[in-house]
Amino acid sequence: RADREYANVLVSRPTPGVALITLNRPKALNALNAAHFQDISDAMKEADGDASVGAMILTGSERAFAAGADIKEMKDKSFAEAYTTDFLANWEVIAKLRKPVIAAVSGYALGGGLELALQADILLAAPSAQLGQPEINLGTIPGGGGTQRLARLIGKSHTMELVLTGRMIGADEAERWGIVRVVREGSVVDEAVKVASEIANKGHIAVNAGKEAVNAAFEMSLAEGLRFERRLFHGLFATKDQKEGMAAFAEKRRAEWTHS
Ligand code: CAA
Repeated sequence: RADREYANVLVSRPTPGVALITLNRPKALNALNAAHFQDISDAMKEADGDASVGAMILTGSERAFAAGADIKEMKDKSFAEAYTTDFLANWEVIAKLRKPVIAAVSGYALGGGLELALQADILLAAPSAQLGQPEINLGTIPGGGGTQRLARLIGKSHTMELVLTGRMIGADEAERWGIVRVVREGSVVDEAVKVASEIANKGHIAVNAGKEAVNAAFEMSLAEGLRFERRLFHGLFATKDQKEGMAAFAEKRRAEWTHS
């Protein structure tokens, strides 16, 4: 099948079941202007709605995953314009995708670039990755979820350091803080394809439910989250994949998922 073509992103299928979306605005280090973001959003929604896709990967170039929202495009925005159009509210589209998203980060992931990666479900990084929220140096703060997602992920002190100093951290520090898993230089996309393919080869309903349950941990109290998890778990007893998975275990054979 032919994937739709986009001006600012490349879409490919490196292996069955996996959609690879590559940010492709190299001259601006993948800075995210409105057209670029629209392409990312459309390409990812298209993959999310495609039954042959089990997992997605979002990546950039070796030099930059993405250097942030496009400063030149937004520098003259007025408060009225930003507020009335709810500027950046559409960024939440990635977090709302049903299928798992793996961010494969090389080079700069700054500002909105890091915020985009933080919306992914699994983050892999090359040793060359440089992460940061430099908005403070522009007289502003992160607006694409950085303060909220980082605070939940790495706690108050590390988040404050990133947001208030604008300092970039390397891949090792990002791994120590629990933001990413670092892989060998030059292998981040290959690693992401491996992980995505492994996920794509599971039963898609259980994968969906697993993602939904983990994400609930960021939005609900523990009591609500535990109840939500258990209800999803109960619901999976109604699927053929659960019957097949458990029968295959008992019969010492490989499960054949039908995603039903
Ligand atoms: N917006 C617009 N253009 C950008 C950009 C951005 N965020 N980041 C890089 N570019 C452009 C540069 O202007 C330059 O274009 P020209 O060749 O036309 O001058 C090109 O990309 C290459 O960049 P540099 O020459 O600056 O490359 P470098 O290797 O010297 O530096 C860098 C790399 C450290 C990443 C530097 O480009 C930089 O600091 N970029 C800005 C990072 C930033 O502040 N990001 C946060 C943006 S605000 C935000 O994201 C808000 C939010 O929460 C959503």
